[in-house]
Amino acid sequence: MSHSTSGTLPYVPGLENIPAAETTISTIDTDAGKIWIRGFSLEELALQSTYEEVLYLLIHGRLPDAETLSTFKQNIHEEWLIPQEIWDIITTLPRDTHPMDVLRTAISALAGFDRELDNQSHEANIRKAVRLVAKTGFIVGNLENIASGGVMGFRRELGHAANILQAILGRTAEDYEVKAFETAFILYIEHELAASTFASRVIASTMTDIYGAVCGALSALKGPLHGGANEKALEIFQYDVAGAEKLVRDKLAAKERIMGFGHRVYRRGIDPRAQVMKNILAELCKRHGDDRLYRVAVRVEELMASEKNLYPNLDFYVAPVYKILGIPPKLFTPLFAASRMAGWCAHVIEQQHDNRIFRPRALYKGARGISYRRP
Ligand code: CMC
Repeated sequence: MSHSTSGTLPYVPGLENIPAAETTISTIDTDAGKIWIRGFSLEELALQSTYEEVLYLLIHGRLPDAETLSTFKQNIHEEWLIPQEIWDIITTLPRDTHPMDVLRTAISALAGFDRELDNQSHEANIRKAVRLVAKTGFIVGNLENIASGGVMGFRRELGHAANILQAILGRTAEDYEVKAFETAFILYIEHELAASTFASRVIASTMTDIYGAVCGALSALKGPLHGGANEKALEIFQYDVAGAEKLVRDKLAAKERIMGFGHRVYRRGIDPRAQVMKNILAELCKRHGDDRLYRVAVRVEELMASEKNLYPNLDFYVAPVYKILGIPPKLFTPLFAASRMAGWCAHVIEQQHDNRIFRPRALYKGARGISYRRP
């Protein structure tokens, strides 16, 4: 990787290892092999808490007590309804529009329906964050249902993740299915300064509204090097172990990337979030009496470690888990978005609480001083 200098300032492509913001929301602690969310281990939260608890923790900075949590769940439940005009816009889009573009369009249009859009007080931003999380989950849960003309409402007695899963499956989900799904949903909730989160903070730093900031984040997440990787990682899982091994070897020989492997921050081993999903995949395979997906995953993991010294990230292990749960592949990345919406909102709120506009410099590599003459 080439590093150059502009004056006395080093230029680092991709801003690798450059701190670009101060935050108390989360950090990746590579020495401890942990992700700390407001001081708590994300892996522990994923296994022991609920999405609503972690959402509250993210945006308020502390865990809720039982009564606060109950009120908070009620607040989320009251916010999932989507104006009919938004469904009308969604159904007007061409049928083959990418679901992430559908989602981005819907969230963008929702800005016009939010009466607090221009109220950028901390309290209003928190209310808008809850609104955005609730509505994004509802839209994603129903993205497939809209095409067939009806949406499935959310039930008060269910958690946010369970409601999304049931809308997708169109049936009551088993407890073990909800647990697996909610664990992935919590693991996706926040991950420090990923490209989409950085994008949301850059946009928020102009003091524009939170909808604009998260629309930028949605655009960044769609890319295959970021959130789009979880859908693409599914390709390997269509094969048996030998077929998957051949596919990976062929791709590496053609200098193609294996989706779900590698990470800018985790260089020395498996992403701790992926390890949690790997254990869940093992449990799901056992329960279903078919361990093909687990064997494929483990073989590809071994192969990538020995051939490329690259390790799985969360997207690699989420793909087979979602496949077992029966989630349509086109919803994989929108589900990442529905979860990460919380992290983006927390970062937008933090950025605007103590803001300075992002305005870095570019290292100019072009010409200077050319005299103007019309060609
Ligand atoms: N498959 C094959 N080779 C890879 C891969 C991969 N998945 N990832 C990195 N490499 C190679 C890359 O070609 C380069 O090789 P060389 O030095 O010979 O040119 C070397 O490893 C270093 O790669 P890099 O591009 O400098 O790494 P980066 O930090 O810039 O990119 C990444 C990180 C995640 C974009 C990259 O690893 C990648 O493209 N992975 C596949 C997409 C993916 O799984 N994305 C999800 C990321 S985690 C969840 C999320 O945030 O969305």
